[in-house]
Amino acid sequence: FDQSHIRNFSIIAHIDHGKSTLADRLLEKCDAVPQREMENQLLDNMDLERERGITIKSRAVHLFYKAKDGEIYALNLIDTPGHVDFNYEVSRSLAACEGAVLVVDATQGVEAQTLANTYLALDHDLEILPVFNKIDLPAADPLKAKQEVEDIIGLPALDAPEISAKNGVNIDAVLEDIVAGVPAPSGDPNAPLQALVFDSQYDPYVGVVVYFRIRQGTLRRGQTIRLMATGAQYTILECGYLKPLGNEPTDALQAGEVGYFTASIKTVKDTQVGDTVTDAENPASEPLPGYRPAQSMVYCGIYTEDGSKYPDLRDALEKLQLNDASLTFEPESSVALGFGFRCGFLGMLHMEIIQERLEREFNLDLVTTLPSVIYHVYKTDGTLVKVDNPHNYPDPAVIEHAEEPYVKVSIITPNEYVGNIMPMCQDRRGEFKDMQYLDTHLVELHYQMPLNEIIYDFFDTLKANTKGYASLDYELSGYRPSDLVKVDLLLNGDGVDALSFIAHKDKAYPRARRLCEKLKDNIPRQLFEVPIQAAIGGRIIARETVKAMRKDVLAKCYGGDITRKKKLLEKQKEGKKKMRNLGTVQVPTEAFMAVLKLD
Ligand code: GTP
Repeated sequence: FDQSHIRNFSIIAHIDHGKSTLADRLLEKCDAVPQREMENQLLDNMDLERERGITIKSRAVHLFYKAKDGEIYALNLIDTPGHVDFNYEVSRSLAACEGAVLVVDATQGVEAQTLANTYLALDHDLEILPVFNKIDLPAADPLKAKQEVEDIIGLPALDAPEISAKNGVNIDAVLEDIVAGVPAPSGDPNAPLQALVFDSQYDPYVGVVVYFRIRQGTLRRGQTIRLMATGAQYTILECGYLKPLGNEPTDALQAGEVGYFTASIKTVKDTQVGDTVTDAENPASEPLPGYRPAQSMVYCGIYTEDGSKYPDLRDALEKLQLNDASLTFEPESSVALGFGFRCGFLGMLHMEIIQERLEREFNLDLVTTLPSVIYHVYKTDGTLVKVDNPHNYPDPAVIEHAEEPYVKVSIITPNEYVGNIMPMCQDRRGEFKDMQYLDTHLVELHYQMPLNEIIYDFFDTLKANTKGYASLDYELSGYRPSDLVKVDLLLNGDGVDALSFIAHKDKAYPRARRLCEKLKDNIPRQLFEVPIQAAIGGRIIARETVKAMRKDVLAKCYGGDITRKKKLLEKQKEGKKKMRNLGTVQVPTEAFMAVLKLD
């Protein structure tokens, strides 16, 4: 196919604005799938994705469109995930395109990720084509949405297509816009190969299937290629075009094209998103810009309720990792929970998805510990310890200072909610940066906030405080010194490692108190009194008591002498004290789970 007839594009949108639905309609219009096999949201082919209605991993398809000018065009549609956790994948997919269709829900207008994704697309110099969706809904106000796009983003939008992706209205206009508006790719097919890996997927039969976009050069079957970041070399067994139903092998792909190859690669770790594929014998002088290794932001311990399922958990994690280079795990053990794994995730959504898949697809009942970020602790001997598990927090005596990760937060909201949002951010140690009016009633707020404060419930609280109107976006901005403390939980004087946490000193006390209260409600009474304590170093900062079950030792004492009663009670007290010194408290798993769900 000659380059002038290729269009590589992506669809970007705020979550739920209709990106996947539009993609389905484009596939239909291009007859990529026979009607009877058209399943809704074909591109989201993981069950969980379909159920949650979100795109987790990006996909690509190769389509043919016969335009009004009579010519046939090859369209490569690269789908991108829609959640902040997956921003890096989005950026790599965009780097594989020349243009982006920006879907804006005409009932909602511009929202946080409409802006964030548009900026990302502009960073890659993409041509942006707005379309206004959901015009079938009575609440749709396409003119207002168009005005917002013109005012806020500064893109011409008044003549942009108004569509209903759901009902298939005006989809041709979108396709014509793509042909006319997205620039054709360029790049010399005879130059040394440079292909960008924008996704990969593990297949049990052929190994990893690598999705790429060729910037320059040619990739052919039988060629020995090298991945420039990892240095690994492979021989291409099959290459071709990406079709929604089974791929279409071919002999070679050239500069400007998008496709897949397989080479008996064992795990997606070897084909990191963002890496550059080159020819092993005639390599490109340098890789394509923008590669960075996947980076976990949030960690938690994952254990099975039934300790004997530990090997199953390991197998399950290994299987998931084959297909998810951003999931990391290593074995850890806890006195309270037994053997498990410390797992790293891109963010909270990623964590929830993995937990849900483990439970559903692998039938495991899990116990997970409180999520934590990575703290940097500088010791007095000058070394740096990166702590992702409270258990490894160094002794305060040898700590010179500690730092925690901060993120740049941007919140877009109608102005009437600013009064609700500001205290919420301050309460989470947010540092106000600036506030801009995007138009007469939309406001964008910027904060610097500790990542630790937003991983738990910030997003939900934000939605609750703004009737769902505000939207959130954040990116890591670096580490800053912070007054951190490690809080230990003691049951009857014994530390319970799985319940330790690291927090800013101002936050440690309220959190410790809530944890103690929650534990008190969930630990069954024992024959002796059980103190529940939270401690920083040796200092107790909170305490609750689970009262002892008490046998009525006076039951057989009718009337009688008061000293006799006192004697019996004294004896009981002695006995309890002895028991307490000897006894250990069994914490039922349910109590753990209840407590760990605290945040
Ligand atoms: P993510 O993949 O999570 O980013 O969402 P998305 O942007 O792909 O949105 P999706 O296509 O899943 O659509 C979100 C919801 O809007 C779904 O319930 C769709 O059925 C609905 N929807 C999409 N387009 C239209 C439309 O034109 N009209 C109406 N009424 N609903 C639509």
